[in-house]
Amino acid sequence: MRSMILLNGSPRREKTSFRFSQAIQKQAEACGVETEIYHIIDAFESSLRMDEVIGKIEEADYLGLVTPLYVDYLPYPVLWFMEECIKREIRVKSGAKFFAIAQCGFPDVRLLDPIMGACEIFAKKMKREWVGGIGYGGGAILDGIPMEELGKRGELITHAFSMMVEDLVNDQKIREDVQVEMTVRIPRILYRPLAFYLNHRSKQIARKNGVHDLWTQPYID
Ligand SMILES: Cc1cc2nc3c(=O)[nH]c(=O)nc-3n(C[C@H](O)[C@H](O)[C@H](O)COP(=O)(O)O)c2cc1C
Repeated sequence: MRSMILLNGSPRREKTSFRFSQAIQKQAEACGVETEIYHIIDAFESSLRMDEVIGKIEEADYLGLVTPLYVDYLPYPVLWFMEECIKREIRVKSGAKFFAIAQCGFPDVRLLDPIMGACEIFAKKMKREWVGGIGYGGGAILDGIPMEELGKRGELITHAFSMMVEDLVNDQKIREDVQVEMTVRIPRILYRPLAFYLNHRSKQIARKNGVHDLWTQPYID
């Protein structure tokens, strides 16, 4: 039986990246691929967990990273994890594949290009075949709601993941239609109000988490 490891790159264990991972797991298991989900943040916080994840990765036919965009790039624990994997020169099965799903708050999936580039380099360094990446713009609005409760949007995402898994089990690169299926088409006129709403929500979350000065620049003396 083939096996898949999904790495949830979000430090928020049960939010949107995790829901995407669960949806992929369901599709993969329906195709007979045994699938487990690991939270990168757990490996970041515990060396025992890191050893366990590495052991699993070495045995897996498919490795998938499901990650959010945080401040225009990968969350730091994901970067740490990638560097650690490269440092440890971990063994991989022959024909092992790597793919990525990245999602961001804003609707424009081009924001995810730097993540996809990093993932492709990671695959090369890990000697895994890069089979492609899928971006989703608008993850903030999904806010960790399970796919089954998202109505039409949930059905489209689930369908896109079923197409992706079909490509994986057929040993093909992920076809471009999967990205088309995942892309939320928002009329241009709604861009500004949506950006306003998303920025407003980010500020609310920051304040709730104790940020009093939103404009502080701690990295500048
Ligand atoms: C600390 C932080 C930084 C973020 N930075 C960006 C960003 O630069 N661009 C963007 O489009 N979305 C950004 N977002 C929105 C997230 O990418 C989005 O909410 C995503 O769905 C979060 O995934 P998660 O629920 O799996 O953590 C950010 C969110 C957080 C919490």
